[in-house]
Amino acid sequence: MPDSVLRGSHIVLGVAGGVAAYKAASLCRLFVKAGAEVEVVLTLEACEFIRPLTFTALTGFPAHTQLFGASDPVPHTRLGQSADLLVVAPTTAHLLARAAHGLADDLLSNVLLATRAPVVFALAMHTEMWEQSVVQRNLRQVRADGIKVIEPGVGELVGGDVGSGRLAEPEKIFAFCEGIFSEETEKKQACSKGSNADAGEERTSAQAATALLCRGSSEVAGDLAGRNILVTAGGTREPVDAVRFLGNRSSGKMGHVIAGEALRRGAHVTLVATCVLASLPGVEFVRVETAEEMAAAVFSRFAEMDVVVMAAAVADFRPAAPADRKLKKEAGLSRIELVPTVDILKTLGERKKTQFLVGFAAETEQVCENGAKKVRSKNLDLLVANLVGVTDSGFGTDTNRAWFCSADGSVQDLGLLLKTELSVRICDRIADGMCRR
Ligand code: CTP
Repeated sequence: MPDSVLRGSHIVLGVAGGVAAYKAASLCRLFVKAGAEVEVVLTLEACEFIRPLTFTALTGFPAHTQLFGASDPVPHTRLGQSADLLVVAPTTAHLLARAAHGLADDLLSNVLLATRAPVVFALAMHTEMWEQSVVQRNLRQVRADGIKVIEPGVGELVGGDVGSGRLAEPEKIFAFCEGIFSEETEKKQACSKGSNADAGEERTSAQAATALLCRGSSEVAGDLAGRNILVTAGGTREPVDAVRFLGNRSSGKMGHVIAGEALRRGAHVTLVATCVLASLPGVEFVRVETAEEMAAAVFSRFAEMDVVVMAAAVADFRPAAPADRKLKKEAGLSRIELVPTVDILKTLGERKKTQFLVGFAAETEQVCENGAKKVRSKNLDLLVANLVGVTDSGFGTDTNRAWFCSADGSVQDLGLLLKTELSVRICDRIADGMCRR
């Protein structure tokens, strides 16, 4: 076999419970022949299809099946941390669903959570399962989480059916893994070149991006490592009296998923929000209610920030004189006098030095035109314009129909995306913007 980039690497091969598990033995053999050290983790269902002993014999290492009771006291962290590459072949619909939801109920699912290595899923299942919308939704989720996917091919399936769902051939999975591994190695090399380069030396944006990764933190691998990012989320509430407020329909989901994605990519994240939707360990959480409180929380932190993402729906007006008691209906209330709030983002645009500013525009019509105007008038680097007032996009939904409006006047139509996918695209833009600074 010609020399492979995988020589000397440590590969963890996961095997889930499908009939295609038999092909995992051939794949394992290809990795071993390429000079990689391979450890195999089988789910209990996989053991119904193929014996762990097969892999022990092929690799020279005992195959792993148990989270508890094995001689290794913490097998999941050792396997996850030591892997240079984690490949799951076959990945079944069940394993995909568990990975999409971050479940950790057996050794393999724990290893998936305990690794920072690139992860490859080679999928295999029956056509009906593959075509289920829930399976496709889980697939979009794991892709958004950074897992590389080898989709199943069309061919003969178990039981004599023919259709899509067949595990890719071991040679194809092997070649795909070599490709992923080469990319990672190039990134690491660019990283060390980038960090050693003279200040005046020209660098490609890829080198610059990976250099940031080195500078930011040696512990956290991510293209936003070491960056200070402030995200706002939710709709502000402007008091009318002691019990009533003027509010809006923003749920806060978009800001929360952006905060989670930035954290995953190594940033120090501050979330200034009017609601708490999820616990995000590691995120500094600042709870506010009104536009004024949000403005104070953002302005006081702005100087130390590299990036601000204003995903909150901030009220443009507030009642001029909110009553500190409950207003009684007998007293009558025909008018509420409103006064404008501070435009937080516009103020940041006027004050910004090197910060990267991202705004949102929730629009019911002329989405791109309004978005393009706001990116200019608020001096932003990026504006995410999204459609509201329809069932699958905007407030409270899991998806958004969005466009990127950039400072250079360009507009990119992103189509309908899960908010998690949109958060990945936004963080990609931020990372790219950072490496150009
Ligand atoms: N924004 C802000 N402070 C405000 C109002 C809005 O920081 N008082 C921010 C929002 O968080 C968002 C961006 O500005 O990132 C655009 O908000 P949007 O409500 O779409 O636009 P407005 O400027 O308020 O204009 P209009 O409501 O007329 O569309």
